[in-house]
Amino acid sequence: MDLFTAIEARRAIKHYSGNDRVSEVDFERMMKAVLLSPTSYNIQHWRFVRVTDPQQRVRIQDAAWGQTQITEAAELIILCADTQAWCDKPQRYWANTPAEVQSVMLPMLEAFYQGNGQLQRDEALRSSGMAAQTLMLAAKAMGYDTCPMIGFDSEEVADIINLPPGHIISMIITLGKAAKAANPRAGQLPLEEVLFENSY
Ligand SMILES: Cc1cc2nc3c(=O)[nH]c(=O)nc-3n(C[C@H](O)[C@H](O)[C@H](O)COP(=O)(O)O)c2cc1C
Repeated sequence: MDLFTAIEARRAIKHYSGNDRVSEVDFERMMKAVLLSPTSYNIQHWRFVRVTDPQQRVRIQDAAWGQTQITEAAELIILCADTQAWCDKPQRYWANTPAEVQSVMLPMLEAFYQGNGQLQRDEALRSSGMAAQTLMLAAKAMGYDTCPMIGFDSEEVADIINLPPGHIISMIITLGKAAKAANPRAGQLPLEEVLFENSY
């Protein structure tokens, strides 16, 4: 599917058939595409929890005010992020570059994030947001549907998945085949309301 077609066709899908499956080949293909998303300093804060246990799905659904797509979708992926990835063996993020590049980038990276908890968290969420959009567009391009979700109790879901210290949950994504199309778009703001030239 052409990229613009995928962008236009992707919608937040709330109803799945419950019988469809995502093949392992397709799942791996889209997740590997996700890993090519951009991140600041190539830190790749994203971590993913693929929830395959039906009972765990039910517990997550309970923590998400009963939203049915959580148990109906073929796949449920919890997008997490490591806010401390910036200082977790950062040489990995530049391993394939020449030593002189590493010697510049690594101290720069450390100086940028050191002591700035807000930025560490913002960056983790930014990276995860990049991953989310890649996942949703890759899925659409492969004929699947998705729904990004933040309508759940984060602390409860963190307990269920044993979220490690320093990690945050950015959103949940359901993945499968739509059983019911999305409603018409709710009301997109016109470009001229959101695009500014040079300053507000
Ligand atoms: C971060 C985020 C959280 C969302 N949380 C939920 C949710 O908990 N439940 C839900 O049904 N839709 C959720 N949505 C879907 C939005 O309602 C939907 O993306 C928006 O209305 C635009 O519709 P579209 O994605 O079909 O273009 C969420 C979307 C985003 C990006």
